Amino acid sequence: MKALVINGSPRKDRGATGGILSHFVEGMKNAKADVDIIYSKGLDIGECRGCFNCWENTPGKCIQDDDMTEVLAKIADSDILVLATPVYVDGMTGSLKSLLDRSIPLLQGRFELRDDHCRHPRREHAKTEKLVLVSVSGFTEMDNFDPLIEHVKGLSKNL
Ligand SMILES: Cc1cc2nc3c(=O)[nH]c(=O)nc-3n(C[C@H](O)[C@H](O)[C@H](O)COP(=O)(O)O)c2cc1C
Repeated sequence: MKALVINGSPRKDRGATGGILSHFVEGMKNAKADVDIIYSKGLDIGECRGCFNCWENTPGKCIQDDDMTEVLAKIADSDILVLATPVYVDGMTGSLKSLLDRSIPLLQGRFELRDDHCRHPRREHAKTEKLVLVSVSGFTEMDNFDPLIEHVKGLSKNL
Protein backbone atom coordinates (compact mmCIF):
# COMPACT_ATOMS: atom_id res chain seq x y z
CA MET A 1 0.00 0.00 0.00
CA LYS A 2 1.57 3.27 -1.12
CA ALA A 3 0.72 6.48 0.72
CA LEU A 4 1.72 9.90 -0.49
CA VAL A 5 1.63 12.56 2.22
CA ILE A 6 1.63 16.20 1.20
CA ASN A 7 2.36 18.51 4.11
CA GLY A 8 1.12 21.99 3.22
CA SER A 9 2.31 23.76 6.34
CA PRO A 10 4.92 26.43 5.65
CA ARG A 11 6.44 25.39 8.97
CA LYS A 12 6.93 21.87 7.64
CA ASP A 13 7.91 19.43 10.42
CA ARG A 14 8.35 22.21 12.99
CA GLY A 15 4.66 23.16 12.95
CA ALA A 16 1.60 21.76 14.70
CA THR A 17 0.55 20.13 11.41
CA GLY A 18 3.85 18.27 11.24
CA GLY A 19 3.51 17.25 14.89
CA ILE A 20 0.05 15.71 14.47
CA LEU A 21 1.02 14.24 11.11
CA SER A 22 4.05 12.42 12.54
CA HIS A 23 1.74 10.20 14.63
CA PHE A 24 -0.47 9.42 11.65
CA VAL A 25 2.60 8.56 9.56
CA GLU A 26 3.94 6.36 12.34
CA GLY A 27 0.61 4.48 12.36
CA MET A 28 0.69 4.03 8.61
CA LYS A 29 4.25 2.73 8.75
CA ASN A 30 3.31 0.32 11.56
CA ALA A 31 0.55 -0.93 9.26
CA LYS A 32 3.30 -1.59 6.66
CA ALA A 33 2.40 1.24 4.33
CA ASP A 34 5.10 2.57 2.05
CA VAL A 35 4.99 6.27 3.00
CA ASP A 36 6.45 9.15 1.00
CA ILE A 37 6.24 12.67 2.48
CA ILE A 38 6.59 15.83 0.43
CA TYR A 39 6.17 19.49 1.39
CA SER A 40 4.30 21.89 -0.87
CA LYS A 41 6.27 24.88 0.43
CA GLY A 42 9.52 25.32 -1.44
CA LEU A 43 8.55 23.21 -4.44
CA ASP A 44 8.89 24.88 -7.81
CA ILE A 45 5.21 24.69 -8.78
CA GLY A 46 3.76 27.48 -10.90
CA GLU A 47 0.11 28.46 -10.59
CA CYS A 48 -2.31 26.72 -12.93
CA ARG A 49 -2.72 28.98 -15.99
CA GLY A 50 -6.19 27.69 -16.78
CA CYS A 51 -5.19 27.02 -20.41
CA PHE A 52 -6.63 23.45 -20.49
CA ASN A 53 -3.73 22.26 -22.66
CA CYS A 54 -3.50 19.27 -20.30
CA TRP A 55 -7.00 18.28 -21.45
CA GLU A 56 -7.09 19.43 -25.05
CA ASN A 57 -3.67 19.57 -26.72
CA THR A 58 -1.26 17.52 -24.59
CA PRO A 59 -3.64 15.13 -22.74
CA GLY A 60 -2.38 14.39 -19.23
CA LYS A 61 0.58 16.73 -19.54
CA CYS A 62 0.85 20.30 -18.27
CA ILE A 63 2.71 22.79 -20.45
CA GLN A 64 4.65 23.98 -17.39
CA ASP A 65 7.85 22.03 -16.83
CA ASP A 66 8.44 22.22 -13.09
CA ASP A 67 8.31 20.08 -9.93
CA MET A 68 4.65 19.24 -10.52
CA THR A 69 5.65 16.69 -13.16
CA GLU A 70 7.19 14.52 -10.44
CA VAL A 71 4.38 15.24 -7.95
CA LEU A 72 1.74 14.20 -10.50
CA ALA A 73 3.54 10.89 -11.02
CA LYS A 74 3.69 10.34 -7.26
CA ILE A 75 -0.03 11.14 -6.81
CA ALA A 76 -1.01 8.85 -9.68
CA ASP A 77 1.03 6.04 -8.19
CA SER A 78 -0.34 6.32 -4.63
CA ASP A 79 -3.17 4.24 -3.18
CA ILE A 80 -3.76 6.79 -0.45
CA LEU A 81 -3.26 10.53 -0.65
CA VAL A 82 -2.90 12.32 2.69
CA LEU A 83 -3.35 16.08 2.65
CA ALA A 84 -2.02 17.81 5.74
CA THR A 85 -2.60 21.50 6.27
CA PRO A 86 -3.25 24.02 8.99
CA VAL A 87 -6.53 25.91 8.61
CA TYR A 88 -5.59 29.14 6.84
CA VAL A 89 -8.40 31.68 6.36
CA ASP A 90 -10.92 28.85 6.71
CA GLY A 91 -9.26 26.65 4.12
CA MET A 92 -5.99 25.02 3.18
CA THR A 93 -2.67 26.82 2.70
CA GLY A 94 -1.99 28.55 -0.60
CA SER A 95 0.91 26.32 -1.59
CA LEU A 96 -1.20 23.18 -1.13
CA LYS A 97 -4.11 24.69 -3.06
CA SER A 98 -1.80 25.72 -5.91
CA LEU A 99 -0.42 22.19 -6.03
CA LEU A 100 -3.92 20.70 -6.14
CA ASP A 101 -4.99 23.13 -8.87
CA ARG A 102 -2.18 21.63 -10.93
CA SER A 103 -3.52 18.09 -10.44
CA ILE A 104 -6.15 18.36 -13.20
CA PRO A 105 -3.92 16.62 -15.79
CA LEU A 106 -4.88 13.46 -13.86
CA LEU A 107 -8.44 13.95 -15.10
CA GLN A 108 -9.90 13.78 -18.58
CA GLY A 109 -11.52 16.86 -20.02
CA ARG A 110 -14.77 15.15 -20.96
CA PHE A 111 -17.72 14.95 -18.58
CA GLU A 112 -19.43 11.86 -17.25
CA LEU A 113 -22.35 11.25 -14.92
CA ARG A 114 -21.13 9.60 -11.71
CA ASP A 115 -23.50 9.12 -8.77
CA ASP A 116 -25.98 11.29 -10.70
CA HIS A 117 -23.41 14.09 -10.72
CA CYS A 118 -21.45 15.62 -13.56
CA ARG A 119 -17.72 14.88 -13.10
CA HIS A 120 -14.48 14.36 -15.04
CA PRO A 121 -13.25 10.75 -15.37
CA ARG A 122 -9.79 10.05 -13.99
CA ARG A 123 -7.04 8.96 -16.35
CA GLU A 124 -6.22 5.24 -16.42
CA HIS A 125 -2.90 5.52 -14.60
CA ALA A 126 -4.29 7.58 -11.69
CA LYS A 127 -5.05 4.92 -9.11
CA THR A 128 -5.53 6.77 -5.80
CA GLU A 129 -8.49 5.30 -3.94
CA LYS A 130 -8.48 7.12 -0.62
CA LEU A 131 -8.06 10.71 0.42
CA VAL A 132 -7.24 11.64 4.01
CA LEU A 133 -7.23 15.09 5.59
CA VAL A 134 -5.01 15.87 8.56
CA SER A 135 -5.44 19.38 9.91
CA VAL A 136 -4.90 21.71 12.84
CA SER A 137 -6.47 25.07 13.63
CA GLY A 138 -5.73 28.02 15.87
CA PHE A 139 -9.28 28.46 17.17
CA THR A 140 -10.61 25.84 19.57
CA GLU A 141 -14.00 24.86 18.11
CA MET A 142 -14.28 21.84 15.82
CA ASP A 143 -16.46 23.82 13.39
CA ASN A 144 -13.36 25.74 12.32
CA PHE A 145 -12.61 22.69 10.17
CA ASP A 146 -16.04 22.63 8.46
CA PRO A 147 -15.20 24.61 5.28
CA LEU A 148 -11.97 22.66 4.77
CA ILE A 149 -13.72 19.33 5.35
CA GLU A 150 -16.38 20.24 2.77
CA HIS A 151 -13.65 21.24 0.32
CA VAL A 152 -11.80 17.95 0.73
CA LYS A 153 -15.06 15.97 0.51
CA GLY A 154 -15.64 17.66 -2.84
CA LEU A 155 -12.11 16.77 -3.93
CA SER A 156 -12.59 13.17 -2.93
CA LYS A 157 -15.53 12.92 -5.30
CA ASN A 158 -14.07 14.93 -8.15
CA LEU A 159 -10.39 14.12 -8.06
C1 LIG B 1 -2.41 33.18 7.56
C2 LIG B 1 -3.05 32.36 8.67
C3 LIG B 1 -4.42 32.15 8.63
C4 LIG B 1 -5.03 31.40 9.64
N1 LIG B 1 -6.38 31.21 9.59
C5 LIG B 1 -6.98 30.48 10.56
C6 LIG B 1 -8.40 30.25 10.53
O1 LIG B 1 -9.10 30.70 9.63
N2 LIG B 1 -8.96 29.51 11.51
C7 LIG B 1 -8.20 28.97 12.53
O2 LIG B 1 -8.76 28.29 13.40
N3 LIG B 1 -6.85 29.16 12.59
C8 LIG B 1 -6.23 29.90 11.64
N4 LIG B 1 -4.87 30.08 11.68
C9 LIG B 1 -4.07 29.45 12.74
C10 LIG B 1 -3.36 28.17 12.29
O3 LIG B 1 -4.28 27.23 11.79
C11 LIG B 1 -2.61 27.57 13.50
O4 LIG B 1 -1.68 28.50 13.99
C12 LIG B 1 -1.91 26.28 13.14
O5 LIG B 1 -1.50 25.67 14.33
C13 LIG B 1 -0.67 26.51 12.28
O6 LIG B 1 -0.15 25.25 11.90
P1 LIG B 1 1.42 25.04 11.68
O7 LIG B 1 2.05 25.09 13.06
O8 LIG B 1 1.57 23.72 11.04
O9 LIG B 1 1.92 26.17 10.84
C14 LIG B 1 -4.24 30.85 10.69
C15 LIG B 1 -2.86 31.07 10.71
C16 LIG B 1 -2.27 31.82 9.71
C17 LIG B 1 -0.76 32.05 9.75
